[in-house]
Amino acid sequence: MKHILITGGAGFIGSHVVRQFVNNYPDNLIVNIDNLTYAGNLLNLTDVEKKSNYRFVKGDIVDEDKVFSLFEQYRFDTIIHLAAESHVDRSIANPMAFVHTNVLGTVNLLNAARHIWNQDYHDKKFYHISTDEVYGSLGEDGLFTEETPYDPRSPYSASKASSDHFVRAWYHTYGLPVILSNCSNNYGPNQFPEKLIPLFINNIIHNKPLPVYGKGENVRDWLYVVDHAMAIDLILRKGRIGETYNIGGHNEWKNLDLIRVLCKIMDKKLDRAAGTSEKLITYVKDRAGHDLRYAIDASKMLDELGWKPSVTFEEGLDKTVDWYLENEDWLNQVTSGDYQTYYQQQYGS
Ligand code: NAD
Ligand code: DAU
Repeated sequence: MKHILITGGAGFIGSHVVRQFVNNYPDNLIVNIDNLTYAGNLLNLTDVEKKSNYRFVKGDIVDEDKVFSLFEQYRFDTIIHLAAESHVDRSIANPMAFVHTNVLGTVNLLNAARHIWNQDYHDKKFYHISTDEVYGSLGEDGLFTEETPYDPRSPYSASKASSDHFVRAWYHTYGLPVILSNCSNNYGPNQFPEKLIPLFINNIIHNKPLPVYGKGENVRDWLYVVDHAMAIDLILRKGRIGETYNIGGHNEWKNLDLIRVLCKIMDKKLDRAAGTSEKLITYVKDRAGHDLRYAIDASKMLDELGWKPSVTFEEGLDKTVDWYLENEDWLNQVTSGDYQTYYQQQYGS
């Protein structure tokens, strides 16, 4: 029986990873530690919360006593580390929170794993989930490979790059059995509506302006979140210790093109005249240091592990929109209170 710690399991990707493991490995014990920041939400896990192989622990990954005692209690053999501050715009407004969780939290977990495993690394794994943003920004051509030098440019990506370096340092210095993956932009159900796709879905529902940064020419490579969760499962089981795997959708979209497709889907689903949602597009001040383009070369995932995305972008976007339209209570719950203050500060209306 494996004892798996998932950090940040109440967040967007984390909740899909929890579901993937709780449902597919009934013999494994899955413990989810999350301190339920604005981005963490136990409503994301209602379908698995009563399963006998699942436990939730409210706690901060930076809290040394809490983390060490949890490791003592459950004797984890596997850590899947997702907990993070994850939004670039918030990192521009408040970088220290990113240093706190993403850097100190990661080092605290590494220390706890090293302490509890005490050099016995047989069947142990520390799997760190990272982002393609650590590689910086691409021009018109090229793809990020696992060998692309790090060049983080936002406080968020700098904190993630730092955490990646610490994870590799624990591998080289202490022999800790680590694996890393760096993924492109995820989308899908349960994503907090501060990121592009859910924010725009929510604004279209409420006939609010769609704030496009700059000219909308930045490019992102989109992957359906369930495909990311399945890739994580595969890497954990079949990936090689000490290795890094880039995960991506081979699915590059200029922001404005993606937004136009989303507007068309929403017009249809909401039974509105064609072109209604596009009229909400509003160009606003660009994000500071806005990376132009991200795109992942995921050939190592295909060649070594046989992984490729299972969901097309059309299917994924359709499922995503349906999920938000069918989960109005979730959307209303996360957009009340503090969200309004955040929105006012970020967009001024
Ligand atoms: P998210 O913001 O939706 O969720 C983060 C979760 O971590 C939340 O549940 C939050 O409560 C929890 N958390 C934050 N600080 C914590 C702390 N100090 N202690 C315990 N829990 C804490 O993020 P996400 O989009 O699901 O991203 C998850 C991971 O995947 C992050 O490490 C992120 O860098 C990485 N990633 C995200 C994407 C993406 O497109 N969203 C792409 C590649 C990699
Ligand atoms: O590439 C992986 C990364 O993708 C993850 O590591 C991050 O956690 C995740 O947040 C995401 O970062 P981005 O900055 O690319 O995602 P975001 O949804 O914030 O923005 C996507 C694009 O849309 C980006 O070019 C900025 C633009 N944008 C975003 C918002 C919120 C707008 O034009 N307007 C907006 O209001």
